[in-house]
Amino acid sequence: METVKAKPDNELIFEINTLRKQKNAVILAHYYQVPQIQDIADFIGDSLGLAQKAAETKADLIVFAGVHFMAETAKILNPSKKVLLPDLEAGCSLADSCPPEAFGEFLKKHPGHNVISYINCSAAIKTMSDVICTSGNAVKIVESFPKDQKIIFAPDKNLGGYINRITGRNMVLWDGTCEVHDILSTEAIINLKIENPDAKLIAHPECKAQVLELADFVGSTNEMLNFTKRDGSKKYIVATESGILHQMRKDSPGKEFLIVPTDETCSCNDCPYMKMNTLEKLYLCLKNETPEIVLEAEVIEKAKKPINRMLEISKKAGLI
Ligand code: 13P
Ligand code: SF4
Repeated sequence: METVKAKPDNELIFEINTLRKQKNAVILAHYYQVPQIQDIADFIGDSLGLAQKAAETKADLIVFAGVHFMAETAKILNPSKKVLLPDLEAGCSLADSCPPEAFGEFLKKHPGHNVISYINCSAAIKTMSDVICTSGNAVKIVESFPKDQKIIFAPDKNLGGYINRITGRNMVLWDGTCEVHDILSTEAIINLKIENPDAKLIAHPECKAQVLELADFVGSTNEMLNFTKRDGSKKYIVATESGILHQMRKDSPGKEFLIVPTDETCSCNDCPYMKMNTLEKLYLCLKNETPEIVLEAEVIEKAKKPINRMLEISKKAGLI
């Protein structure tokens, strides 16, 4: 792979700014990206915000600083545009936990069910779904179905279980998890709460049930960020990926944010896939217009329907 390691960040940023103007490109970045990428993005968001921006963009070229399923979603919504991902290896453990063949067998075992899939899944899984959801609209999407409708929810069992508990539904859950959120340590949270009685615990719904039960607030990445802006507390214990701390600290400089460590020996909770993208790879990707997301026309056609249904429900509910 080509590298430009010799270039300092300010030169890379200058080149990126020149190229994006020349090529009428938009840089969309998830909150889990490294701070340098968040700071130069045209839009930073959670999965719902990014899907909405991808659906609306007038740019000719989309550079998606996120992971593979997010860039695929942007491609599905913009089939005639070039969609680039700075590192094609930037995948997702949750998406990988749901292979299409095994999911097809699972669907056969549950006839008469509608399928709601979390956006963190491959384009192939999206083609097998009735509607897509994100953590920011999952409740509204589930509640758009009649109470007695049988539903399969895939692939995140933690998010699905949380939605079951708060909506009183009994959706059948695919057994998948996010390798970052699922291992956040309950023991560390209890200790942090004891040491910081004035702090509020905020958690992402991809965390396991024991963590969510302890939380003062549960929400998508963007909802957590907005909560810390409007809430009166001065200290937060944050149970999610560490990338969000950059925006939380920028938006609320007077507040303190304590990240929850994992159960594993490595105490960082960086998503290894999100952190594959670097400023250097972003520059090369804009310059060379590769790696590009390529999908078959038939997959795009089928996967578009459940994504558009999600966007319509979210618009009606005032979420976007
Ligand atoms: P949201 O962006 O919906 O908060 O999801 C978090 C996540 O894990 C993205 O991969
Ligand atoms: Fe996937 Fe989890 Fe990383 Fe999000 S944080 S991209 S769900 S592995």
